[in-house]
Amino acid sequence: MAQGRIVAGVLAPHPPHLVYAENPPQNEPRSEGGWEELRWGYERLRRSLAGKAADVLVVHSPHWRTTCGHHVLDLARFQGLSVDPVFPNLFRFHYDVAVDVPLAEAIAEEGDRAGLVMGRMRNPDFRVDYGTLTSCHMVRPGWDLPVVAISTNRAFYYFSDDVGQREMVALGEATRRAVERTGRRAVLLASNSLSHRHFTEEPPVPEDMSHEHVFHHGQYLWDMRMLDHMRSGRTRQLIDEMPDFIEQTVSECKEGCLTWLMAALGFPDYPAEVHAYGTVIGTGNAVVEWDPEGARAAHDG
Ligand SMILES: [Fe+2]
Repeated sequence: MAQGRIVAGVLAPHPPHLVYAENPPQNEPRSEGGWEELRWGYERLRRSLAGKAADVLVVHSPHWRTTCGHHVLDLARFQGLSVDPVFPNLFRFHYDVAVDVPLAEAIAEEGDRAGLVMGRMRNPDFRVDYGTLTSCHMVRPGWDLPVVAISTNRAFYYFSDDVGQREMVALGEATRRAVERTGRRAVLLASNSLSHRHFTEEPPVPEDMSHEHVFHHGQYLWDMRMLDHMRSGRTRQLIDEMPDFIEQTVSECKEGCLTWLMAALGFPDYPAEVHAYGTVIGTGNAVVEWDPEGARAAHDG
């Protein structure tokens, strides 16, 4: 078996509004569209991923919250109805998720070996969270690849940013080792938004884009700074500045997804591709792709 590799890493934010605006058959509410910049960014991402022969999506979601350790979905299939508790008017999604169980178990084993507390979700009635579903749907709306979903253990909240960062670096490195030893060609998805202050009142028509804009200028400047780090290959500086970013923008990076992704990719020093930046109820969201194989080819060529 050839050694596996991460063929792409993606910052793949999960506002349920994006699925709502796409009107897929799985989602009950109907919309008139909206948030096109982000949705077209996901389209560009999908075109970019098309040639990479990926065989699995591995997603770390802020909305599967586990207090004791990091958990993975660990049954071959999960089916059900997932409803966003904040936006039940936008997201009531009928899902049928196939899981790459050998990779899920390999990630849990590598996490165990690294001293992390790992859990395996084997309750067939477990409801998959809207973060996992939205990110996977926007990246692969045909649902023709198996998924590995990883929970957030919230160490940033329960302990500190330092502990959270260390946990997520260890989990990212464990994920990479698991991908390599199982021979997978994996696309990794960090499901978080960037800045995360948001409006608290929804317009009568949720997709009325005359209401959509950045929450405030300081939050926007922070998002642009973080995106500039990504576009310039300064991911170690990005991680170093993350505690300030989290504090000043209430960033959803506090759930650890982006740190997990950076560690899994080995803290890339090559430029990332920003496919889109846009706001959803005022929060900052970017669709960003890291292409390790393209970077390697450019370096060797
Ligand atoms: Fe969220």
